[in-house]
Amino acid sequence: MKNYEEVLKKYNQEHLLKYIDNLDEKKKKELLKEIENIDFEKIEELYKISKRDKDKAIKGIIIEHIPFTDKYKLDEETFDRLTKVGENVIKNGKYAVVTMAGGQGTRLGHNGPKGTFMLDVKPRSKYLFEILAENIQRENKKYNVILPWYIMTSTENNAKTISFFEENNYFGYPKENIMFFCQENLPLLSEDGKLMIDENYNIKLASDGNGSIYKSMKKEGVLADMKKRGIEWIFIGAVDNAILNMCDPILLGLTIEEKNEIASKSVVKANPHERVGVFCKKDNKPAVIEYTELPDQLAEETDEEGELLYGESHIMCNLYSIKALEIIADKNLPYHSAYKKASYIDIDGNLIKPDTPNAYKYEEFIFDGFNYFENITILRGKREEDFAPIKNKEGIDSPETAIKLYNDFWKL
Ligand code: UD1
Repeated sequence: MKNYEEVLKKYNQEHLLKYIDNLDEKKKKELLKEIENIDFEKIEELYKISKRDKDKAIKGIIIEHIPFTDKYKLDEETFDRLTKVGENVIKNGKYAVVTMAGGQGTRLGHNGPKGTFMLDVKPRSKYLFEILAENIQRENKKYNVILPWYIMTSTENNAKTISFFEENNYFGYPKENIMFFCQENLPLLSEDGKLMIDENYNIKLASDGNGSIYKSMKKEGVLADMKKRGIEWIFIGAVDNAILNMCDPILLGLTIEEKNEIASKSVVKANPHERVGVFCKKDNKPAVIEYTELPDQLAEETDEEGELLYGESHIMCNLYSIKALEIIADKNLPYHSAYKKASYIDIDGNLIKPDTPNAYKYEEFIFDGFNYFENITILRGKREEDFAPIKNKEGIDSPETAIKLYNDFWKL
């Protein structure tokens, strides 16, 4: 980039010049290359949403309750019929599963990819990836198939994740049916909208949220691979749910019968302020409002029977037709911002490790993909059968609570 000084000045990023001046030739070239690849217009757009408060995220949007089906209120005949419809898809090799494992798990305080966290369950401790591998293998046995398993990583944890699987012999999963793909990054911005520099004198980047999965699946050839294998339905789930049910034939059967392209499992919110997204309609389209953006008044609103109006939790148990994934992959999902702690190198070369948030991180959210459809199938399951999240070091949604749910579920 010849005129980088001009560009940096134009976009108020001239503080980077000071870093550039202090670098040796090799590092300088590297940093300039990174600057060259930055879409400064996009950075300016992102910064504009940084300071938006909670209520503004949904300002001007009509929010309404969304209908759902309770799995345990289905009559026996419907239950059996839907099970058959769903099982046929799985048995005929038209089903695949995806695990999102690009997040950092900072809240949990684990050093490494979250899937490498060891959970002290009975009868012996297991890694989260191992628990998922076992769950899918159980389904493989049940349906006499080998489900293709796609795992999304991020640049921060891709190499570590792949070597972890190698070292553990893929937990016995047929290697040729596991495919890793990597999501993308976005720069972090300081309080005043400046790009930041990391310990290696690179632009400070972070993964761009789990919603970037759609674009990444297209870009990394995952969708093409699925099509080649004749996959028609795809489950996408999180890495941090110890009892994640990746193959619910009822969910599949109901979605097919309702002629929908997208679906999701929910559980009733434990309390109005639980840190989960909730299903709703936004301007008449299926949607989720994330806990960080849900105004208290909506969180607490109830219907005539006293049930929370927005009480169906998004537990990251999502199902898509291949067509739906292709549609979303071509869209630009909105960005959401979060204010986080991020270490960086200051202009004098000191490593700063802040105690309080100092940087904006921008993320796409997976459920924003739902908005491109008229309808969604929502199946209410049961917390004790579907949701054992591991988010925090201790207390709510911690290893301790997940271990109990896991042991109870498997009756150990
Ligand atoms: C997420 C959901 C929330 C839901 C809750 C249930 C989003 C935006 N939020 O919240 O609606 O109620 O889970 O547990 O989906 N991930 C990536 N790449 C990223 C960021 C995250 O792959 O850039 C993965 C994580 O590895 C994890 C999953 O997405 O598997 C959830 O991410 P996390 O950031 O922990 O989301 P929550 O805040 O818990």
